[in-house]
Amino acid sequence: MTSRSHLTIGVAIATAGALALTACGSGSSADGGSAGGSGSITVYNAQHESLTQEWVDAFTKQTGIKVTVRNGSDTELSNQLMQEGAASPADVFLTENSPAMTQVENAGLFADVDNATLDQVPAEFRPSTGKWTGIAARSTVLVYDKRKVQPNQLPASMLDLAKPEWKGRWAASPSGADFQAIVSALLELKGEAVTKDWLTAMKTNAKVYKGNSTAMKAVNSGEVETALIYHYYYYGDQAKTGENSANVGTHYFKNEDPGAFVSVSGGGVLKSSKNAAAAQSLLKFITGKTGQEVLQKGTSFEYAVGSDVPSNAALVPLKDLQAPKVDPAKLNSATVTDLMTQAGLL
Ligand SMILES: [Fe+2]
Repeated sequence: MTSRSHLTIGVAIATAGALALTACGSGSSADGGSAGGSGSITVYNAQHESLTQEWVDAFTKQTGIKVTVRNGSDTELSNQLMQEGAASPADVFLTENSPAMTQVENAGLFADVDNATLDQVPAEFRPSTGKWTGIAARSTVLVYDKRKVQPNQLPASMLDLAKPEWKGRWAASPSGADFQAIVSALLELKGEAVTKDWLTAMKTNAKVYKGNSTAMKAVNSGEVETALIYHYYYYGDQAKTGENSANVGTHYFKNEDPGAFVSVSGGGVLKSSKNAAAAQSLLKFITGKTGQEVLQKGTSFEYAVGSDVPSNAALVPLKDLQAPKVDPAKLNSATVTDLMTQAGLL
């Protein structure tokens, strides 16, 4: 999950059509415009609102294509797309993590991403299927209280957090898509039995918070020693006042550990889009040089993945993270939710 407050849109399905007409009515044509880089499109956005707004503003400035953004969480929006099916007003879906993309892909709702876009993104940052593409990336990190924990006392593997000695000494936000993506990687890398055992131990060992920012704040205030979160919560706070991370250190597991998982944020074009050319051009823009420079120079602190644009210089370089190799197309959100529910974490 993000630190932003979510706009709840689960109840907005009934009004979605009316909203779409209003949005499109302000564009060049009532059906969202014709192909060829004109008209307007609707984006279902689960990425951080500020990041997507930066992308959209730059895209509209360059192309003249108007973009309506509807915000929600990964699963809120993937579930909404499944319910709406071919009648969805969405042209593009952007997520924080890839399991929600796979859910929509498996429902057959995505068009193929244009090859020109796929060519901008290395194969490791997109699914083998070509039905969507990575647009940014984020790394798992264990943040810790520098006053209480010395670097040599940190666990070598994320799996060590299941050991009795870590009882009550780590925090997480299991209800969020960020944490569930980490579990999906564990499931893909180590299988169901290991994942089940780890989650069962987590129920005993971990302190549960709602949101990664809250978990990091708890580390900073001395409430809990460590938290398993994504990296950008730390860097974002450091770039502002540092008030929620002044006492916090970052521990990257590396060594292709499940805890070194790098999660891909996804972008895809809905098969039902009535302005597919404009929708495809947004994905091409986001993964292109200008779009990726938004990641490099902006305040999201997420990793750039496309067009050879370097990531923000404040970050540990992606190549140094020694992330495990995972095909994002194989990350399964349904099994993760089941296992976490069985473990009493959801
Ligand atoms: Fe997040």
